[in-house]
Amino acid sequence: MFSEKYFRKKPLSAYHNDLHNSELKRVLGKWELTAIGVGAVIGGGIFVLTGVAANLYAGPALTISFMLAGIGCLFAALCYAEFASILPVSGSAYAYSYGTIGEFFAWFIGWNLILEYLMGATTVAVSWSKYLVKLLHLFNLDFIPTWLLNDPVTAREEAILNGLQAPAFSINLPAALIVWVVTYILVKGIKESAKTNNLIVTIKVLAVLFVIIVGAVYVKGANWEPFIPEKIIDAKGDSHYGISGVITAAGIVFFAFIGFDAVSTQSQEAINPTKDIPFAIIVSLICCTILYVLVSFILTGMVNYKNLDLGAPVASAFSAVGLNWASGLIIIAAVIGLISVMLVMLLSQTRIFLNMAKDGLLPAEYFAAIHPVYKTPWKSTILVGAVASVVAAITPIEKASKMTSIGTLFAFAMICAAVLVLRKKQPNLHRPFKLKYLSVIAPLGIVFNVLLMFSLDKSTWLRLLVWSVIGIIIYFTYSARHSHLNKK
Ligand code: ALA
Repeated sequence: MFSEKYFRKKPLSAYHNDLHNSELKRVLGKWELTAIGVGAVIGGGIFVLTGVAANLYAGPALTISFMLAGIGCLFAALCYAEFASILPVSGSAYAYSYGTIGEFFAWFIGWNLILEYLMGATTVAVSWSKYLVKLLHLFNLDFIPTWLLNDPVTAREEAILNGLQAPAFSINLPAALIVWVVTYILVKGIKESAKTNNLIVTIKVLAVLFVIIVGAVYVKGANWEPFIPEKIIDAKGDSHYGISGVITAAGIVFFAFIGFDAVSTQSQEAINPTKDIPFAIIVSLICCTILYVLVSFILTGMVNYKNLDLGAPVASAFSAVGLNWASGLIIIAAVIGLISVMLVMLLSQTRIFLNMAKDGLLPAEYFAAIHPVYKTPWKSTILVGAVASVVAAITPIEKASKMTSIGTLFAFAMICAAVLVLRKKQPNLHRPFKLKYLSVIAPLGIVFNVLLMFSLDKSTWLRLLVWSVIGIIIYFTYSARHSHLNKK
């Protein structure tokens, strides 16, 4: 029997206690928060996944795919912003739903946010490893054996493709190691992390602007024709291009937008959370959407979509027009820039865990332990780093990115629903950021995000199902029993 206790809500007054008893330092201003958003967003999506999306599915209409995914995210971002202004706590969507919809729903959102942040960091670590290899190659440093550069599945596929014997053992060592570097920075503290983040974000945004401005000189109008290539079905029965291809590509490049919501996990470190968090969520998403639309337009204009590289499309497009030096600069910027995505993703994951542990849904001795000197949730940071590094070492990028996307889309759809429910149930609650036309925006957000979920393949859905079942089992065997609301 699904008893009423699974719908119990954390009283809003309890959030105010959490806010006043927080041990985290309030050091982040509005632009630092926006930089955290941009830092989490621009990464493997634009630097790696654009190649597959344009080459195999959308052609030049990749620009439309970016617009579609951006619109879906904008609806979710607006809903997030309203939620964040009501409850400026660091548990993000998990905490918001615990106060409004109920404990089980909140747990389930939190469980999907793990896919977003932990799997997101993992995916980016694998992208980083690909760019590192390219960087080393620039300097003729090809000394790392291939069995230390790929997960076992990719290593096997590559060996078969090249007519070689698959290695008996293979791991992605650079991906695993970079996660530990990021974990070290995070354990040392948020202010240092924010400074590192600002620097990296500046480099990354300059690189993207460089692509747009310099790339524009090399655009040839003929590459945009036909803008939406005619739909074809390949020998395996998979469809490419046409309108459906544009939607599939939108599902792939959705990954590029993930991260703007990570700003909401920094509420307890924000100086003025009720105003600055909504500002940073929306501004970082809008900035990145504009940059993405421009980059995709330029990229598909520089090189015919059929010749876009699948591994490092942005850097390769510049080599293709004879600008090897520019390609080198982009590789360097990507190697540096991807670090901030991992930084924010792993940081956000630990903040969600911290909130869940404070509510009793996870063991507090691990997930809520704050370091006496650095004031960071150090045990959980190390645990999250350890898991992310192991998964990064053995998981193919394509599987990791799709898992991240489906978990995030699911969480976004649930957020849109939750904000709507709260508006109906508690219309008079003080909302420093109150969204106009919520009754239109929230349903559109649900529809867009669920549609993008359907653009992902069956095996990704199956993995989501398995993940959800594991989450439900943990909830009923541990979390529901240890919830602090039991005592009230
Ligand atoms: N949006 C982030 C990226 O593209 C996750 O790397």
